[in-house]
Order: sequence, then structure tokens, then C-alpha cells
Amino acid sequence: PVEPDLAGRHVVISAGGTREPLDPVRYLGNRSSGKQGYALARTAVARGARVTLVEANTGLPDPAGADVLHAGTAVQLREAVLKAAADADVVVMAAAVADFRPAEYATGKIKKKDGQEPAPITLVRNPDILAEVAGERARPEQIVVGFAAETDNVLANGREKLRRKGCDLLVVNEVGERRTFGSEENEAVVLAADGGETQVPYGPKEALADTVWDLVSSRLG
Ligand code: C5P
Repeated sequence: PVEPDLAGRHVVISAGGTREPLDPVRYLGNRSSGKQGYALARTAVARGARVTLVEANTGLPDPAGADVLHAGTAVQLREAVLKAAADADVVVMAAAVADFRPAEYATGKIKKKDGQEPAPITLVRNPDILAEVAGERARPEQIVVGFAAETDNVLANGREKLRRKGCDLLVVNEVGERRTFGSEENEAVVLAADGGETQVPYGPKEALADTVWDLVSSRLG
């Protein structure tokens, strides 16, 4: 039996990857499977939390015991997360949110025309949901957790991102040789705003999730 150290807590978790539509049949997307976010949701339920999972394009079955909301784009994910975060004790942004979206959406399918060069795609910035949630803090004692995938200078870049986003914890994955996207395993270092640094060895995504909840739990009042 797991200790219910999150009993009475409302935790909001985002999972998956946003898709930014170009026209009714095409989108810009990413390779996030959502498995780490779902592992966070399952383990939080097991530890007694009330869980709101905001999922984007995972195709995964709803985890038992969680309230699941569905979002397609970054703008939709932002709406759902901000609403759920209003009374949350903890917000964990595990979703891969597109940094940019197409500036224009074509209501009809974009056609190729003989002898014409393809039109360039112009992008605009999406809102940074993590920075917004962490900066505004719907509740002063709220704990905000972000994720970051880095390819080089993992710790230095992670520290910089933690500070820039203003979150309490940042789970940093080194992407490259090791499998992260779509895999059942993960390896990470969790950086804390108070200076802490926790290495999580390669293992099941549940183990990383439980380490995150241990660190969150010790920071909750
Ligand atoms: O800046 P970067 O995309 O590396 O940051 C990753 C973290 O920020 C993740 O926790 C992700 O969920 C969050 N994020 C966000 N809104 C964005 C981009 C990223 O909340 N537009």
C-alpha cells in the first residue's frame, strides 16, 4: 500500500503534445506520447490526490480515478490548465506544448498548384503556459513543476530554464541516444528552485513520477 501523502490535494497534470492546425487535414505536431504525464496521473491517484489530467492528442485510455479533459492546441490546453489551476495545490506541465503555431488557418485544404512554389508557413508565438501559471500563482502556496528536454549543457540550461519559467521544480531529460519519446522508461535530473538536484536513474516512468511526488510532497505545507 502506498502512503496517501497527497490526500486532500488537487493536482493538475498536462500530458501529450499539442497539434497546431494549418488547414482541416494538416497540423504541426511533436513526438510526445503522453506516457510520462499518465504515469504522473496514476501515481498521484494512488497517493490519494484529486487529479485533473489535461491531455493533448495522446490516444491513451483515461486513467482510473482522474478527471480527464481533452485539448488539441496550445491555446485550448492553456484554457483548460488555467481553469483547473484556479484551486490546484500542484500544477505539473508534462505536456509538450508547441512554442509556435501557424499564423493563419486555412478553412479549406491547402492545394498544390502546378508550376507554383509552395507558400511559406508563417509562425507566431504560443503563450508559455508554464511561465504564466508559475508567475501568477492562483494560490500563493501552489507548487509548479515543469519539464524540459535538453540536448547539451543539460544542467546549466535546466537551471536557466527553471529560473526563467519561475517554477519550483524542473524535470530535465537529456534527449539523444536514450529513448524518451514513446518509451516506457525515462531518466532525468530534477532541479529545485531552492537549489536541490535529484538524479533519477533510467527506469520506469512511474519511478520518475513518484520521485516528483516525493519532492512535491515535502514542499507542500
Ligand atoms: O521552453 P520549453 O518548451 O523547453 O519548456 C518546456 C516546459 O514548458 C514544459 O513543462 C512545457 O509543458 C512548458 N511549456 C508551456 N507552454 C509553452 C511551451 C512550453 O507551458 N508554450
